[in-house]
Amino acid sequence: MPFKSETDSEVLVQLVEYIMQSNGLEVLEALQVALQQVIGAYAIVILDREHPDTLICARKSSPLVIGLGADGDYHIASDALPIAAYTSQAVYLDDNDIAILRYGQPLQVVNIQNEAQHPKIKQIDRTLGDISKGDYPFFMLKEIFEQPDCLRDCMRGRVLSDDDTISLSAVADYRKQLTEASRILIVACGTSWHAGLIGKQLIERFCRIPVEVEYASEFRYRDPVILPGDVVIAISQSGETADTLAAAELARSKGALVFGICNAVGSSISRQTHTGIYIHVGPEIGVASTKAFTGQVTVLSMLALCLAHERKTISEADYHELVGELRRIPAKMETALQTNELIRQLAPVFTYARNCLYLGRGYNYPVALEGALKLKEISYIHAEGYPAAEMKHGPIALIDSEMPVFVIATRETLLDKLRSNIQEVKARGGRITALTTVGDNSIRRYADHVIELPDTHECFQPLIASVPLQLLAYHIAVSKGLDVDYPRNLAKSVTVE
Ligand code: M6R
Repeated sequence: MPFKSETDSEVLVQLVEYIMQSNGLEVLEALQVALQQVIGAYAIVILDREHPDTLICARKSSPLVIGLGADGDYHIASDALPIAAYTSQAVYLDDNDIAILRYGQPLQVVNIQNEAQHPKIKQIDRTLGDISKGDYPFFMLKEIFEQPDCLRDCMRGRVLSDDDTISLSAVADYRKQLTEASRILIVACGTSWHAGLIGKQLIERFCRIPVEVEYASEFRYRDPVILPGDVVIAISQSGETADTLAAAELARSKGALVFGICNAVGSSISRQTHTGIYIHVGPEIGVASTKAFTGQVTVLSMLALCLAHERKTISEADYHELVGELRRIPAKMETALQTNELIRQLAPVFTYARNCLYLGRGYNYPVALEGALKLKEISYIHAEGYPAAEMKHGPIALIDSEMPVFVIATRETLLDKLRSNIQEVKARGGRITALTTVGDNSIRRYADHVIELPDTHECFQPLIASVPLQLLAYHIAVSKGLDVDYPRNLAKSVTVE
């Protein structure tokens, strides 16, 4: 049969039609034959013009959710968010399942071998149906400002204020495998990968378990070694990122315990993992991830401290002190948000930059990567994040007065060394904007601009320091007149490779 299109969905429709015509089959039967032949991921809905009262949906490795309306109506989408305004009940199709939807009639599900399936009906989170920007001009700004409350929600029932302890049901349920893990592998993409880099530092420092962080897209194709006793953590805001889902499935097929850290409840990754922790920061609409990032870092902080306590790799005193400090983070984040006006005034200075550099060390190195990613995504200014000490191995050649350099120089173990790195940049005419801890004036003389942040333990600095960098990217993009929530070429969930 000659190909009439290069678009895979059009090719599939042609294939179904060809099978119908050449074998005298109805559309459902023809679809079952077709789907046994095709390779790859799909989520499709078919309407046969001869049967306009019937929709047929099928999925494999791509998300598809069917909302069940109260009046016999159906709603189909790739996640629960867009249908939540119409119904509170949903069915998530499994791979190779086909659903037949007829208005006013019960949902029928079969698989591609035509065996009847009985999927469970799930409740959709009611808050999903109630999404608006409120008084904010963009979802991204709203989501940045929501973060203190989001982190309170994320910690609710998990960080216990009576005795400054952490209780995680996922750790209780899989205590042995988690506490005896010989290695932890973190797989994720984009911002979630940056959260994973912070998770690595937290888990290695407090639990003394070796951690590797991998791009899910690389992990899935390099035949990774998975050893008995390995735990794989898949981090994803949407829970639908194709590469992260495939990496989690691969790890599971090789015998690892797979642990999900997701935001979207009921998402594919959360259903494919053995256990996990939802970040519970509410729906994130802005394409540039903000509150999901700090939610992921909060979950990783709770996980690291909880596991360390179980493994007795942290002293009781340090454990309680750090849990207490984690509880105080939302209030400190509120203070960090007060830098908004200063950053708004500063932003136009950077509008014409063609390249920017973000520097940090230790826990703040992933914050530098994340700050650069935010700027790239929504302002279309090229930006790179670097561990500050790596500057002298190449990137320092780029420094001149045209190059804004953002340095995360909050109080931390390596601050003295970072100060030397800042001097190196200054000596080459770099224009420095420094994030510093309030009360530390030692950076001021090298910096063109200083943004002061509240003090906290260095392991929680990312939760504070990422806030002004999110605001900076936001205000620069707004100054350039760009659509912050829907930047060009980007999708909120990357459900294809
Ligand atoms: O939904 P996920 O967390 O799996 O998404 C991963 C990345 O696609 C995502 O973080 C992306 O980098 C964001 N646009 C970052 O702002």
